Amino acid sequence: MLKIAASLLSCDFGRMNEDIQSIEKEIDELHIDVMDGHFVPNLTFGPVVIKALKTKLKKDCHLMVTNPGALLEDFAKAGADQITVHVESFSRESNLNELLYRIRELGLKVGVSLKPQTSPVVLKGILDKIDQVLVMTVEPGFGGQAFMPGMVEKIKDIRKIAPKLEIAVDGGINAETAKLCVAAGANVLVAGSYIFGAEDRGEAIRKLKN
Ligand code: DX5
Ligand code: ZN
Repeated sequence: MLKIAASLLSCDFGRMNEDIQSIEKEIDELHIDVMDGHFVPNLTFGPVVIKALKTKLKKDCHLMVTNPGALLEDFAKAGADQITVHVESFSRESNLNELLYRIRELGLKVGVSLKPQTSPVVLKGILDKIDQVLVMTVEPGFGGQAFMPGMVEKIKDIRKIAPKLEIAVDGGINAETAKLCVAAGANVLVAGSYIFGAEDRGEAIRKLKN
């Protein structure tokens, strides 16, 4: 089953709940980009903002931060259903493993994200500890960037080593790039500017699904 996640980075921050409501029935989850101005050169929102969201949709917090371990409990308390961390935030595999265990202990779904240059080989040791891999199809940091076509092969490679894993793609997703990703094996599409920038959001979401 294909799932659609709307990335809040492209919504109107002054009317977040209204923007969520406008698409709530058509999407499967919310994708929330947490940036610390250090792991990526942009700064977004923390737990207080997640707490203010009025929705029953699944909330996946995509942590683009240098020290994700310091934030887990706060995001769990604020209402996160999934926490997705970047493997590049960890210098040692044991630290990554420990953090994945802690996310699970909090009762949350576990996601792991790979920047475009990161090889999927890193997934081999952690496949039994994660619910989803988030393949970055742009350099993390900003919405509205162009999809990197080279990532299609990477999605295929991951599908080969993990036939049942949920594979999400994030960055530059629109009706055309979605097709390439789904054909390669992705089953969660994260889209920000394509959904929130559309004149008819419902229509944009239907196009992603087809
Ligand atoms: C980029 C973020 C994405 C971003 C995608 O660092 O992780 O979630 O919102 O935005 P679009 O869909 O506009 O490329
Ligand atoms: Zn994201």
